[in-house]
Amino acid sequence: MELQINGLNKRYGAVHAVRDFTLRLEPGILGLLGPNGAGKSTLMRMLATVTRPSSGTIRFNGSDVAKSPDELRRTLGYLPQDFGIYPHLSAIEFLEYIGALKGIGRRALRARIATLLESLNLAHAGSRPLGGFSGGMRQRVGIAQALLNDPRLLIVDEPTAGLDPEERVRFRALLRDMAGERIIIFSTHICSDVESLATRVAIVDHGMLLADEHPLKLVSGCASLEDAYLQIVTGARPAA
Ligand SMILES: Nc1ncnc2c1ncn2[C@@H]1O[C@H](COP(=O)(O)OP(=O)(O)OP(=O)(O)O)[C@@H](O)[C@H]1O
Ligand SMILES: [Mg+2]
Repeated sequence: MELQINGLNKRYGAVHAVRDFTLRLEPGILGLLGPNGAGKSTLMRMLATVTRPSSGTIRFNGSDVAKSPDELRRTLGYLPQDFGIYPHLSAIEFLEYIGALKGIGRRALRARIATLLESLNLAHAGSRPLGGFSGGMRQRVGIAQALLNDPRLLIVDEPTAGLDPEERVRFRALLRDMAGERIIIFSTHICSDVESLATRVAIVDHGMLLADEHPLKLVSGCASLEDAYLQIVTGARPAA
């Protein structure tokens, strides 16, 4: 499995949100780091085929996703940064609805929802309306919907935002268990997410890829990953 991003650009009027972005991904966990407005979500939306690039290509297993998005979409799990919910549906009803849209059979779907609610520590709240969920609980429902179809390509935009430390650790364990033959891309502002999870880190600023390295390599010679990150985005350290 391979995801090849080549010379990707996205412009919103005068804003050049993603610039000449080239990256080749194989199974593993890529952590995307970058300041607010760096272009992380824009990049992820293009990879999830929600937004079209202004120019450049994305190839999934060799085929251009702008021309044939179906192969990628079939095996995609995506958590947008601004994940909306239906306040009157229960967590189970909402996940059944998303699962039906994804074409998952009823029996398999029920079993999958039960497993995911358990792994995300939501089993006790499955029948409650989402409108009454806390922010972190809603976020975990968002994670569950992204994982429903057991995706080979998982794109999660700030999945740990709003999670308390215990839930963050639980989520990281879940992703680590899932890894293997999958391409997982997640963005975060929490350096410890990257350190404990990522097999590769991409640092993005002003829409450009500034560094692409293993977290341990990135941090070598620096006091911490945060330190390495700050040096790169402030230009104190030349990009690799
Ligand atoms: N739909 C849009 N219309 C116009 N401009 C947009 C749109 N989406 C993003 N932008 C602009 O593109 C740039 C990149 O935004 P993006 O949301 O990708 O950043 P980000 O790295 O995800 O930031 P954050 O860490 O705050 O989530 C910003 O300048 C933003 O204002
Ligand atoms: Mg974002």
